[in-house]
Amino acid sequence: MQARITVLPGDGIGPEVVAEAVKVLKKVAHIYEHEFVFEEALIGGAAMDVSGNPLPDETLQLCCESDAILLAAVGGPKWDDPTASVRPEQGLLGLRKGLGVFANLRPVKLYKQLLHASTIKPEVIADVDLLVVRELTGGIYFGQRGRNNTDGVQGAYDTMFYTVPEVERVVRVAFDLARKRRKKVTSVDKANVLESSRLWRETASRVAKEYPDVEFDSMYVDIAAMRLVRYPNVFDVIVTGNMFGDILTDEASMIAGSMGMLPSGAIGAHKPGLFEPIHGSAPKYTGQNVVNPIATILSAAMLLRYSLELEEEAQAIEDAVQAVLEEGHRTKDIREKGTTLVGTWEMGSLIADRMANSE
Ligand code: IPM
Ligand code: MG
Repeated sequence: MQARITVLPGDGIGPEVVAEAVKVLKKVAHIYEHEFVFEEALIGGAAMDVSGNPLPDETLQLCCESDAILLAAVGGPKWDDPTASVRPEQGLLGLRKGLGVFANLRPVKLYKQLLHASTIKPEVIADVDLLVVRELTGGIYFGQRGRNNTDGVQGAYDTMFYTVPEVERVVRVAFDLARKRRKKVTSVDKANVLESSRLWRETASRVAKEYPDVEFDSMYVDIAAMRLVRYPNVFDVIVTGNMFGDILTDEASMIAGSMGMLPSGAIGAHKPGLFEPIHGSAPKYTGQNVVNPIATILSAAMLLRYSLELEEEAQAIEDAVQAVLEEGHRTKDIREKGTTLVGTWEMGSLIADRMANSE
């Protein structure tokens, strides 16, 4: 297969982790005889430094012309001025919106080798495998916002707005994926307070009727947050809005042991998909070869699965990650006694080498 993959290293540790994912993808291309063409472009703070624009037109255009996009992370203290009108994050949000990737798949898997790093109690649960489907191009992230000044009192507002079609399409993605899993969907909202959540709940419940073979319930986000850390196995597929999904997946990463373990893939009605770890640019660790590249490497596996339909190759990467963890190699974030500490690029190389060995 031939594929064009746009690589967006972004800021902070982004270039370091994305380099390891590209290393693994090149190994895949070699072993399975694919031709992957990697094209790099600027996004976020790195792009602002050059042109002032966190999402240059040429970046968006290159992304639109490619088969899939691998992005690391954006943002950092250099561009953090709260009064600035342009921020690196706008590049990321603009890209998601521009590509129309409305469904963000965030799988949460606890590797048994990482039980010590997980916040859950191993005597209660030793096996977690759930999927959060986060709506990614609507909701409060994209609603109207502004500031006002009434009689000298400063105020600000953000609007959480969803349309029925926006909810329908992301809920359908969740149900379709649940059919290939344990056949259970939980829709998470705040329908006891928010009107947009009442619309979300009505719509999700109606779509659920199209899937009589899949179990369905709706849950308030506060209860879901509590259950997620205490009984993560009550969930199979969670579908929720943009902001709730953002918060719940950072929470869920602690079940998996580290932010450095959680990949994600955003898909829309058309190609290309956008694949990125759920973590940020971790500026204080930049250039130290200490961060965990596994979240980005697993995002590359999702890229193969969802955008290029290379299931076997995706699985091979996931198996290599599992094998390297079994062998006792750990980056700092998931380290424990009796394991071998490795840096970012060593971890990437171990995973790439392991793929060649399992050929
Ligand atoms: C994520 C991140 C982003 C988000 C930030 C960097 C804008 O937290 O992908 O979860 O909130 O979507
Ligand atoms: Mg987040």
